[in-house]
Order: sequence, then C-alpha cells, then structure tokens
Amino acid sequence: MKAMASTSGLLLLLAVVAGGTSVLTAAAAAAESPKPTPWPHQFHSILFVNYSGSLSLIDLWYDWTNGRNFNIVQDQLGKLLYDLEWNNGTSFFYTLDSTKECRSAQLDVGILRPNWLDGAVYLGQENVDGFLCNVWQKVDFIWYYEDVITNRPVHWVFYTGRSIHVMTFEVGAVLEDAKWQAPLYCFKKKDTQADYKLDVGYLEPQLQSILRASTQL
Ligand SMILES: *[C@@H]1O[C@H](CO)[C@@H](O)[C@H](O)[C@H]1NC(C)=O
Ligand SMILES: *[C@@H]1O[C@H](CO)[C@@H](O)[C@H](O)[C@H]1NC(C)=O
Repeated sequence: MKAMASTSGLLLLLAVVAGGTSVLTAAAAAAESPKPTPWPHQFHSILFVNYSGSLSLIDLWYDWTNGRNFNIVQDQLGKLLYDLEWNNGTSFFYTLDSTKECRSAQLDVGILRPNWLDGAVYLGQENVDGFLCNVWQKVDFIWYYEDVITNRPVHWVFYTGRSIHVMTFEVGAVLEDAKWQAPLYCFKKKDTQADYKLDVGYLEPQLQSILRASTQL
C-alpha cells in the first residue's frame, strides 16, 4: 500500500512536470507556427470537388476588390450552375440554359474576407496531392492545406466531407464585368423557379456566416 501511494505520488509529480513542460512547448509552438497566407484580393481558380463521390468542377472567381465572388459549378455530366455572391449579402443561383432557373438568397454576411483564415489552429505538415503542405483547422468546420514552398492553397475539406482540390491558382485574374450580370429572369416575380438546394458552390452559406463571425471576433 505504502509503495503504491508513493508510486502514485511520483506519477503525480511527473504529470505536473510534464504538464508544465507541455504548456511551455505549446507557447513556443504558437509563437513559431506558420500562419495561413491571406487570399489575394483577386484570383481565379479551377477547383476539383468530391462531395461523397459526387464530382464537380468549379470555376472560382474571387474578387474582393469589387465585393463579389462567383462559383461556376459543372456537376459531372450534369447541370452548369452559377452561384454569384455579392458583398451586400445577396446571392443568385441560376442556370443559363433554356430552363431559365434562378433563385436568390439574402445572407446576413457578405463574401469571405481575404483574411478569413485568421485564427486557424496550426496542425503541422502533411503531404497532400503530392505537395508538402502546412495544415490548419478553423473552428471545426474546415481543414486547409497550403503548399509550404509557394504558399498557394492546395486542398481544403469541410466538415460535411466536401473535399476541394485546387487545380489552378491565377493571382490577379479578374472576370469581365458583363459576366457578373445575373439574367433578367432572376429579377422577375417568383413563378417558375426551381427548388434549388442553397448549398451549391464551394462553400455552404451557413458555413460562410460562421467563418465570417469567427473572423470578426
Ligand atoms: C471521391 O471520394 C470518395 C470518398 O468519399 C472516394 O471513395 C472516391 O475515390 C473519390 N473519387 C475521386 C475521383 O477522387
Ligand atoms: C446587392 O448588389 C447586387 C449587385 O449590385 C444587387 O443586384 C442587389 O440587389 C444588391 N442587394 C441589396 C440587398 O441591395
């Protein structure tokens, strides 16, 4: 009994010492850990998306300068969907084919800020898609992988399982203004509008709100 008591006393002492050491290590690591590179104010990316086996390609035109963000989503052998988001919270989801579908939504937040990854927790390095990446996690909603050498995004995964692979990353590329015009039938009275899921695109609106909220804290 006595031996056991002193053993547990020793274990407790070791635990306290180890605990103290790990606090120091964590503080040192926090001071040194890499930060995610803010998004360029304007870029174009082609994204390969795998959402539980449903594949799509997204043309992403991020344009913070003009307060707008565009996801042009081609589902594999399926629809071509346009997901246009303005920084005033208005989004349009539409097709440009003969079905003339359109739905709009009003969110209480605008598009992602260039620094939307601020405050993400650094998880270390990992090889993804053949690139050595720094990895961060943001509020349990997204895991983000950035190339260690070029600082370009390579991959991100949402908690929903939506998995994004960055195929191209053209910094400074801007889509011409005329292409940002939602079609006329988006502005007519709701009559023949299709029942769209709001989560088309590379980012669920709800997720956008959460990430924006956490960035503003
Ligand atoms: C898509 O993801 C699923 C897992 O959800 C995986 O089994 C499948 O191989 C992936 N497909 C491609 C083309 O990456
Ligand atoms: C937001 O901006 C877009 C583009 O200028 C416009 O079509 C939309 O009506 C605006 N929404 C609001 C709520 O002002």
